[in-house]
Amino acid sequence: MIKSITVIINQKGGVGKTTTACALGIGLSRIGYKVLFIDLDAQCNLSYNLNANLDSFSIFDLLNNKPLKVEKVIQHINNIDLIPNIPKMSVSNNNLVKLARKKYKLKNILKDIKDNYDYIIIDTPPSFNIFTINALVAADSVIIVALSDIFSIRGIYQVNDIVNGIQQRNNKTLKILGILLTKYNVHTILNREMTKLLYKTAKNINTKLYNTKIRESIHIKESQLFKQNIYNYMPNSNVTTDYKNFTKEYIKDINKKIIN
Ligand SMILES: Nc1ncnc2c1ncn2[C@@H]1O[C@H](COP(=O)(O)OP(=O)(O)OP(=O)(O)O)[C@@H](O)[C@H]1O
Ligand SMILES: [Mg+2]
Repeated sequence: MIKSITVIINQKGGVGKTTTACALGIGLSRIGYKVLFIDLDAQCNLSYNLNANLDSFSIFDLLNNKPLKVEKVIQHINNIDLIPNIPKMSVSNNNLVKLARKKYKLKNILKDIKDNYDYIIIDTPPSFNIFTINALVAADSVIIVALSDIFSIRGIYQVNDIVNGIQQRNNKTLKILGILLTKYNVHTILNREMTKLLYKTAKNINTKLYNTKIRESIHIKESQLFKQNIYNYMPNSNVTTDYKNFTKEYIKDINKKIIN
């Protein structure tokens, strides 16, 4: 029975969305939960990180109304499932225009399969497009990933506006669970000052800043290069501990949400 469908979001590029989606989903699956990942970013980074078979159907085929069963698209990789994004030479404008009116498509696709999973984790592109909207309509929770810089704060307000719009028009149950600070360096004055500002920002949009901050570590890039998850690649790294702690915080919040 599904506990949460969570979208990892920020329209700013390179803030750690895909890294977080991957670490959270794998972290949940290591605890024993059944996890489905969905890669909504045409860069396909999540699909690469999870060692997907790239010679197959993709989320785009599903959203684009091909007569195709979702089971045909889901890949089973070790203990997790993935609906991948596949690098395509050309996605015609015509196709995108057709898609533009279909905000509920992903929600409908997930209707029949969501209860096969405990958690569905959706990675999104660094821009707001019809894919992001489909994710927000289908989900019940949102995690904003941010760096400690001033652009991130602007980005957070923009995400909040978009989530509010979707809440009002399409999905009343959608909630921003929190803001996760990544690539954090505790030793810089900038990071400490920005953290104070981020606490205020979180309060202003009626959410929280996660207690866990994900520290900057070369082990992230290394693990991605070697196509391993961070828990296997470097179990004792600080950043691995951070992602474990974040996963615990996430589970606690979801449980509270379910009980309330
Ligand atoms: N905690 C970290 N420490 C060091 N490097 C990190 C950390 N998290 C992510 N990175 C690196 O930062 C880069 C961007 O990360 P990632 O791809 O997760 O961001 P993204 O928000 O998904 O980017 P995009 O918007 O392009 O999809 C990657 O090279 C990744 O290896
Ligand atoms: Mg990404």
